[in-house]
Amino acid sequence: MCGIVGYLGYQNPKDIIVSGLKKLEYRGYDSAGVAILDQGKTKRIRAQGKLKELEDKLQGETFDGHLGIGHTRWATHGKPSERNAHPHQVRGINLVHNGIIENYLEIREELLTEGAVITSDTDSELVAHLIANEIEVTQDLFKAVERTLSKLRGAFSILVMWENQPDHLVAFKDGPPLVVGLGKNEMFVASDVQALIQYTKRFVYLEDREIAYIKGTEVSFFSANGFPIHKKEVELNWNPEMVEKQGFAHYMLKEVYEQPRAVASAIEPHINPDTFSVSLKNIGFGGQSVQKLEELNTAEDWLKTQEVFKKIERVFIVACGTSFYAGTIGKYLIEQLARVPVEVDIASEFRYRKPVVPPNTLVVTISQSGETADTLAAIRLAKELGATTLSICNVRNSTIDREAQGHLYMNSGPEIGVASTKAFTSTLAVINCLSIAIARTREVMSIETEKELVTALLAVPSQMEGVLAFDKYFEEAAAGLKLFRGFLYMGRGISYPIAMEGALKLKELAYMHAEGYAAGEMKHGPLALIDERMAIVMVAPTDQWYDKTISNLEEARARGGKIISIGTGENEKLRSISEYYLAMPKTHWTVSAIISVIPLQLMSYHLACSLGYDVDQPRNLAKSVTVE
Ligand code: G6P
Repeated sequence: MCGIVGYLGYQNPKDIIVSGLKKLEYRGYDSAGVAILDQGKTKRIRAQGKLKELEDKLQGETFDGHLGIGHTRWATHGKPSERNAHPHQVRGINLVHNGIIENYLEIREELLTEGAVITSDTDSELVAHLIANEIEVTQDLFKAVERTLSKLRGAFSILVMWENQPDHLVAFKDGPPLVVGLGKNEMFVASDVQALIQYTKRFVYLEDREIAYIKGTEVSFFSANGFPIHKKEVELNWNPEMVEKQGFAHYMLKEVYEQPRAVASAIEPHINPDTFSVSLKNIGFGGQSVQKLEELNTAEDWLKTQEVFKKIERVFIVACGTSFYAGTIGKYLIEQLARVPVEVDIASEFRYRKPVVPPNTLVVTISQSGETADTLAAIRLAKELGATTLSICNVRNSTIDREAQGHLYMNSGPEIGVASTKAFTSTLAVINCLSIAIARTREVMSIETEKELVTALLAVPSQMEGVLAFDKYFEEAAAGLKLFRGFLYMGRGISYPIAMEGALKLKELAYMHAEGYAAGEMKHGPLALIDERMAIVMVAPTDQWYDKTISNLEEARARGGKIISIGTGENEKLRSISEYYLAMPKTHWTVSAIISVIPLQLMSYHLACSLGYDVDQPRNLAKSVTVE
């Protein structure tokens, strides 16, 4: 959940590390720090709060050296403060850490007995002590790290430097992601390629329990017990502009506006626009590594995918947060279109509830980052239980992507805003393709229906653009929402998960209490909450659930609730009973969720902005949750 950057090369480490940390701030932002060599000694500068605080402290600081590491923190052990900020420094060792050391209490006891002076409340500092102890024996950073690893339990990544070996940098991963960036006469390490893409496009992804040992301009890789291993280099085709704000006030706003393009890119590989048919492209169920997917024979691969789809008797969809709500919509789509029973699970529940996974089960995980700890544990468990796994990820080569047997991609481009937007809508588009593909393969859908659904899907990007053009109305509606005490988001059918996602967006961004409910459940509790200080946000497109939704809306209105409704086209009924009525274009029910979430995203965005909150980095949250 924290962000790590390291640099060894001929340039000024300070600029590279700070610019990398900026790209990683989404991973944690309660404190930050750097340790950079300066004339043979390490200068460490840390600050509580956002990266800006560190930048201010670094102004005017110069470093005469070429090695440095940096960190942006999301607190787990020890509250956010400067003394708990990384890097942790012990006798010339500097260390940054992401994740959790589970046996930290034992280690702490032992170190205290030996007389160690521990200056923070973190588990991370303890690792620096252990390495510093080992280095007294080995006089070599790599060996000291290797000897320390066997003493640590947990899921963690570390990056370490030692001022006595100014051309060495050692990284280890066992859980949270780490990638080595290969430059020309320079080497980088980071939690995420986004931090490095402006410097290099060549990367090596560390797998669990692997060490990267950078020595000068060379890097070599080892297993945790010191055996040399060969690693593959990956070349990315991202450009640096893809991770910049491009004139938008916030990343989130940029990402909301990128949704039409993101949805188009998500469906593009799988749809034949001439025949209006779906065939999933290069899924890789045949056992190919993610790096080789592009080289697959598409027709042969599609046959393999179809074999899997023919056999399945049950689908589980497992995810967290916004991805979980996308999965919930997946249940409606796959069950209704392909007639296969679907269970949707929150990953942290799935992994511990001893799920019954019968033979011929397909477990679909959804994760934008591909690094969410619970989702990763869920996919591992699913494999253990004999299920076939299929991941829907945004970040290619991420851990979940690598570990899954089949691979689908959101193709949204980097998503920086902590509150997920474009990855959500892209996922819904991918799930549409998946549902149609399963349905057609199992011969429960006619070619005509397939054509109708593909036509509806192809229309979505331009419909989304049409909706985005009405942003000023969403902003207006948001201005009217400030005074409410609470929010009840409701919908039926496919709009029910959208109501939950809308409520989540309001909580994440505007820090207001909101609940997402199935409109039919309103009578079973939430109705008691409704009065004139309660806003009801009703997602009510004209679909098979519409009439029932309207009855629920009337019931809420009769109790004084103020209504904001989202419906289809000019709808006099909704307009007359709502404080704000937001009209969406007419769509097929299978894609309506992709459209109706936009006003909910934008209302929360505008409300949060008008309250002065940081929409890209909401308090206490992180984009990539790599701890349980
Ligand atoms: C965090 C983020 C959410 C995201 C969730 C799941 O909570 O703040 O925006 O939906 O993690 O992340 P994933 O990367 O697995 O989709």
